[in-house]
Amino acid sequence: MTPTGPVRAWFADVAPAHGSLPPRAHLDTDAASMTLDGEWAFRLLPRVPRHGGNGFEAPGFDDSAWDLVRVPHCWQLEGVPGLPRYSGPAYTNVVYPFPIDPPDVPDENPVGEYRRRMDLPDAPDGGRWLVRFEGVDSAYEVYINGTRVGGAMGSRLTHEFDVTEYVVPRGNVLAVRVLQWSAGSYLEDQDMWWLSGIFRSASLLNRPAGGIDEVFVHADFDAAAHTGRLLVEAPPGAVVRLPELGIEVPANESLVVSDVEPWSAEVPRLYRGTVSTGAETVDLAVGFRTISIDDATLLANGVPLRLRGVNRHEWHPKAGRTLDEATMRADIELMKRHNVNAVRTSHYPPDARFLRLCDEYGLWVLDECDLETHGFERIGWRLNPSSEPVWREALLDRMRRTVERDKNHPCVIGWSLGNESGRGANLEAMAAWTRSRDPDRFIHYEGDWDSAYVDVYSRMYADHAETELIGRGEEPPTSDPQHDRRRRALPFILCEYAHAMGTGPGGLAEYADLFEAYPRLAGGFVWEWIDHGILQRAASGAYEGEEFFAYGGDFGEEVHDGNFVADGLLFPDRTASPGLAELAKAYEPLRIEPSRDGVTVTSLFGHRTTSGIDFRWRIEDDGEPVASGPLAVPDLGPGEAIRVPFPGRTGAPVAAAGPGGPQRWVTVSAHLAVDEPWAAAGHELAWGQARLDDHGEPPRGRARPAGDSRAVVQTDGGWELGPGRFDAFGTLVELSGLAVRGPRLDLWRAPTDNDERGDAPPSADWRALGLDRLRHRTVSVTSEDRALSVVAHVMPAGVDVGYEVEYRWHAHDGALRLDVFGSPLGSWAVPVPRLGVRMGIPSQLDAVAWVGLGPGEAYPDVSLAAREGRFASDVASLQTPRLRPQENGARRGVRKAELTGGGSRLTVSGECFILTVRPWTTEALDAAAHPTDLVPDPRWLWMNLDDEQHGIGTGACGPIELPRYRLEAKRFRLSVALSAEAG
Ligand code: GAL
Repeated sequence: MTPTGPVRAWFADVAPAHGSLPPRAHLDTDAASMTLDGEWAFRLLPRVPRHGGNGFEAPGFDDSAWDLVRVPHCWQLEGVPGLPRYSGPAYTNVVYPFPIDPPDVPDENPVGEYRRRMDLPDAPDGGRWLVRFEGVDSAYEVYINGTRVGGAMGSRLTHEFDVTEYVVPRGNVLAVRVLQWSAGSYLEDQDMWWLSGIFRSASLLNRPAGGIDEVFVHADFDAAAHTGRLLVEAPPGAVVRLPELGIEVPANESLVVSDVEPWSAEVPRLYRGTVSTGAETVDLAVGFRTISIDDATLLANGVPLRLRGVNRHEWHPKAGRTLDEATMRADIELMKRHNVNAVRTSHYPPDARFLRLCDEYGLWVLDECDLETHGFERIGWRLNPSSEPVWREALLDRMRRTVERDKNHPCVIGWSLGNESGRGANLEAMAAWTRSRDPDRFIHYEGDWDSAYVDVYSRMYADHAETELIGRGEEPPTSDPQHDRRRRALPFILCEYAHAMGTGPGGLAEYADLFEAYPRLAGGFVWEWIDHGILQRAASGAYEGEEFFAYGGDFGEEVHDGNFVADGLLFPDRTASPGLAELAKAYEPLRIEPSRDGVTVTSLFGHRTTSGIDFRWRIEDDGEPVASGPLAVPDLGPGEAIRVPFPGRTGAPVAAAGPGGPQRWVTVSAHLAVDEPWAAAGHELAWGQARLDDHGEPPRGRARPAGDSRAVVQTDGGWELGPGRFDAFGTLVELSGLAVRGPRLDLWRAPTDNDERGDAPPSADWRALGLDRLRHRTVSVTSEDRALSVVAHVMPAGVDVGYEVEYRWHAHDGALRLDVFGSPLGSWAVPVPRLGVRMGIPSQLDAVAWVGLGPGEAYPDVSLAAREGRFASDVASLQTPRLRPQENGARRGVRKAELTGGGSRLTVSGECFILTVRPWTTEALDAAAHPTDLVPDPRWLWMNLDDEQHGIGTGACGPIELPRYRLEAKRFRLSVALSAEAG
């Protein structure tokens, strides 16, 4: 007997043709159409019905017991947070959540069945009817009135089905069966949640006879002649009109247009017009621009391109990958306000509306195909669809759908073949097809470093040193001399860099310097825009019922990659993380460098002058305003620089405040003079600061005590010195009647994601050494020379490594002065997380004001955004609520901090220290999985005063901190004065 098995189902067939129409552009047309978004009947089945289905498609099928869901949606996010209505979401980065057994997928394959009724809208001229789906994950078949019209794969690609033959004017039943897994899933291994359903819009489109099914707009700009070249491909007989340019010409004729203004991300000049036949009019938004490559430099309109970019996944904490237009606008406006000028649509074409908005607002877009096969890396790239001939058509189909849909957008400057899909002839075929279809844009793919068939050399996470070598054209050769020669002539893009996971990203400043220094470096795209956290509610504990953002593993997935899904510049609710402020500074379009008598302004724009930008100066003494005014800066052309003296009589920066007095700083800033679509007039684009009273580093020694010093008095339980009471171990327990604990030496920080991950995470060394469980032993407490000197050894169990620390106390004028001298004990093979002290202070002191750098957190290699001034915050707002709690919230360069509340006050002053105040201990922070695990200590706030912290880097998925930010175990000294009033 011949064994029989299941016939290979259509959704495990890699061939792309399942009945959808060839791809074409999304056109803005006056032909009749109707949205199919809205309520659909829905049910979820655990597996695909076998043997001819289940009849769900029949018009008379009774779906009255089904649920109603809103399309677009993904079914895993239906229900209320914490109580998914159907199955839950799952997150993996590289690993497939199903066996690698291509092209088949498991029998357990959840199926969402959808039904809705529809009437045809009025379409006087008859014509054909198409049903369009813009995004369905992962495979689906479409039935109209009981007849199967086709199926499709390619989750983030548009598919249209011709339903003309099957529709009637009224009462049609549209039924769609969506499968969670399909052959297509092997091509969609992007680092994101696995979510399913009709998650983008669906519509019914009329195609009038004699209408315009397809348009291809070519609009170049000749920078030398200042002319445009226009060619609109459309059906013969169609007429193109661009009234602003006086153009009315037949389609398919190329013409040169004089006096045209180019499109750029900086000045997104669009010319609105139409292309029409008697039967249909399509709106055009034409942007003239030319992308070219010359001498290994990427050019836009003849000017070197500097991509100050971000990678953008589509994400919403409640709706998943379903975005409404308001959210898209919010993303773009936030990007523009933070000086971002480019987006890589990682790792699939975005919702079509996003590109239309990018045309309007101005962003350079690298449009990426919906392709990633990263999971094959785990089996040595065996069976990889990028190289297996059987997958060739499927990959080509994905590329065609990407290019055809998006080809008319001036914002799209390059096509990316996909992400992390290894190497292979199918990628090469995608490149060849793309080049023949659209030679006017560059082709990008990162995964094949030979770069033989692409137009830019692209890498992800190359470190600064390697990026600099590439900038100089001195990178190590690739194995094939021919490829090497070709690659050296290509511009370079960091398609991902500065992995923004957790606290950080460190090292942006140094990348920005490199991009500016080397024309071959066309810039890059930070990884990534937004954390993909899912809004949930805490099931128990102190915060029961309160919202938090879930990450991988929170839904009980059997394989998952934890919080690696949370690596964005925005939190899931689109509030900015400190990393976004850092990015805004690194991406400033103007360099502003003030000094004592004036300021140098350098324009980093490539396509506009500085007209429309106002400059202002202000002087502050320790953050207190002294003087301010407008600053006249002549218009600068792209790349120009000018030195402007400060205005004479308003006498900007003059007298120094003098030694011991406040620090005097001048700030010069650049602002929008008029409203822009993305920001109101007054919005700050760039700023620079300089210290006026002293240009050297502040002296860092022991400050000279002021006033009369007080003697140490030994008491029954310990010591007294001025306002301070110390226990028998020499630990400060009270200051002017205010109960305190410590300060004591602290070397530990709750590891950041960058400390925790990567090949050799320092946190593993720190925990192995025991820095998270230090023991303190008081060696001696002595009173000498009106000082109390306490010496201690601070070491973990089981090793002879740690620190010897002397706390030397003096009392003057009602304050205590503390000098901490630390020196390493034993032989340290690892960097130190921090060098400083930790102190418990009463929890009512929860209003913090400080003079130094602010307003946001800063670390040694993440401190671009911090500026000199005077700042205030409550303790809760000093915390950065990252999805996985970790070291955060440090304020650097602090000279004075005042903590007040409940009538009490504690003042800390020093020459330059790092201040961190939190309502829980570092240990609690380290142990928490989500912010809802962190319960404020009712009695104490925990305050760290540090001399320095270890750098942050981007080791979670990129280079670690640069060597100069590594904090070695070394001698250090920290000097502060403490005074208090108890309420
Ligand atoms: C890259 C990948 C991204 C993301 C990132 C880490 O390798 O292309 O999709 O996984 O690493 O967050």
